[in-house]
Amino acid sequence: MPKVTILPDEKILSRTLAAQLVAALREKPDLVLGLPTGRTPIRLYHELGARYAKGEADLSRVTTFNLDEFLGVGPEHPGSYHAFMQEHLFARVNVPPRQINILNGAASDPAEECARYESAIVAAGGIDLQLLGIGTNGHIGFNEPARELAGKTHRVVLKASTRRSNAALFGGSEANVPREALSMGMATILRARRIIMIATGKSKAGCVNRMVNGPITTRMPASFLQLHRDVELMLDEPAAGELSVVGSG
Ligand code: GLP
Repeated sequence: MPKVTILPDEKILSRTLAAQLVAALREKPDLVLGLPTGRTPIRLYHELGARYAKGEADLSRVTTFNLDEFLGVGPEHPGSYHAFMQEHLFARVNVPPRQINILNGAASDPAEECARYESAIVAAGGIDLQLLGIGTNGHIGFNEPARELAGKTHRVVLKASTRRSNAALFGGSEANVPREALSMGMATILRARRIIMIATGKSKAGCVNRMVNGPITTRMPASFLQLHRDVELMLDEPAAGELSVVGSG
């Protein structure tokens, strides 16, 4: 069962997690970090940037792997997760560009790009700490609810609800959001040595409860985190609002 930590609000949650990350970096300066996009981690990334600016954090030896990217979208596209990460994190801290890994959505051979990414994670020694968000339908990365889930980094067809929630990156129009994406697979994510999922706001309360207390099912990809031995769920109070039983770690 995941350890569940409930914090009063998003601001305190982001500060608490940033402090934990800074401590983890002191312990292992060459940490391999898995990173999410979405609205949820933005405050955390800015907080890390603020700590770096104050001289409290050094990310010069960190290697990062992002979870996913839209298909057909190159790194310079303003709606890409490359652009998102640059704006919210990498422009604010000192991770050397050669240590930043994000799937190339514009790769001429997407299957080869996915295989390359898997090998790069292995070559880096695996992911030490994977940060995750959760989609309201229970997706992690872009692993959407389905009859079957893929283990490795792969190409996915996005659900309409996921495209809607990413519309802001594409001028507010769902129609402009790519229909497909590349994403780390479930096994790629579950191989991380440690996982911290963050969820904030009332809209996440239902999926958070199903993830913690529901059955492990491909219809709720995040439920597979129940099988991992080192998962922490950091929630603000609204996101914890529907938890029927709180896991004790
Ligand atoms: C996106 C990302 C996920 C993210 C999720 C939640 O589609 N691919 O990695 O966790 O949706 O996003 P948000 O934090 O905006 O709710």
